[in-house]
Amino acid sequence: MSERKMPRILAIANQKGGVGKTTTAINLGTALAAVGETVLVIDMDPQGNATTGLGVDRRRLVHSTYEMLIGEVTLDLVVCETGIPGLDCAPSSLDLLGAELELADFPRKAFRLADAIRTMVEHGNRQYTYILVDCPPSLNLLTINALAAADAVLVPLQCEYFALEGLSQLLKTVERVRNSLNPRLTIQGVVLTMYDRRNSLSEQVAQDVRSVLGDKVYQTIIPRNVRVSEAPSHGKPVLLYDSRCAGSQAYIRLASEIIRRENDLRAA
Ligand SMILES: Nc1ncnc2c1ncn2[C@@H]1O[C@H](COP(=O)(O)OP(=O)(O)OP(=O)(O)O)[C@@H](O)[C@H]1O
Ligand SMILES: [Mg+2]
Repeated sequence: MSERKMPRILAIANQKGGVGKTTTAINLGTALAAVGETVLVIDMDPQGNATTGLGVDRRRLVHSTYEMLIGEVTLDLVVCETGIPGLDCAPSSLDLLGAELELADFPRKAFRLADAIRTMVEHGNRQYTYILVDCPPSLNLLTINALAAADAVLVPLQCEYFALEGLSQLLKTVERVRNSLNPRLTIQGVVLTMYDRRNSLSEQVAQDVRSVLGDKVYQTIIPRNVRVSEAPSHGKPVLLYDSRCAGSQAYIRLASEIIRRENDLRAA
C-alpha cells in the first residue's frame, strides 16, 4: 500500500466580506492543480460560492460539509469532482447556517473538520497534496474549525482604504487558536487582491500593508480584472475561462510563490 501523507492544509480566511477569499480558493486551487498538485477545496461558507464557482450544482448535492461537520458522513463521501483534473471540491449547503448552533454541544466542536480530514487521510480513498479551506466572512466556529485543521493561514487583503482594519482581530484569533487548539498554525502569507493600477490609492494601500507586514506579503499582487469576476457565473475558474488574462496569470504566479514558501519550510 502506498504511504499516506498528510496534505498541506491552508485556511483562506479574513472575517471581512468580499475581499477575494473564495476567488483565491478557486483560482489558487486550479493553478496548483495545473502544476501537478492534487488539490481539494473545502467550502466552509454557507454561501457556497466556492462550490458553484467550481461548477458544482448545489441543487444536486447528496452530501455537503454540513453533514461532515455533524458527523453523519465522512469527508470522502462529501467530495465531488469538479471536471478539472487534480481538483476536487467538498461542497457546502445552506444547512451550514445552522451548524454553529448545532455543534455547540458536540464533543471536539472546534476539531470537527480536523478530525474529518485526518480520517480521510488515514482511512479514505482520496489523497491530496494541498487542501484549501474557504472560510466564511466571520470568525465563527466554522472559521475556527478551519484554523484548528490548518497548517497555515492565507489572508487575502483587498487594496482599499480600510484594508488593514480588522486584520489585527484576525491575527489575534490566529494567535489564540495557536495557543489553545493548534500549536503548528502559522501565517503562510498575505495576498493583496483587486489591485487597481489606475487608482493611486491601491498603490498607497499596497505600500502601507508591506510596511506593516513586511515579507509576509506575497510579491504577487492580484489585479482587479473583469474576467476574474465574470468567471464564476460560468461555473469556471478564471484560469479556464480566460487563461491569458492578467488575473489568471497572477494566480499562476501566486501558486508558484506559495509552493516556493512551502519548499523553503520543508527544507528549514
Ligand atoms: N481580482 C479580482 N478582480 C475583479 N473582481 C474580483 C477579483 N477578485 C474578486 N472579485 C470579485 O469580488 C467579489 C468578492 O470576491 P470573493 O467572493 O472572492 O470574496 P470573499 O472574500 O470570498 O467574499 P465573502 O466574504 O462574501 O465570502 C466577487 O464578486 C468576485 O468575483
Ligand atoms: Mg467567499
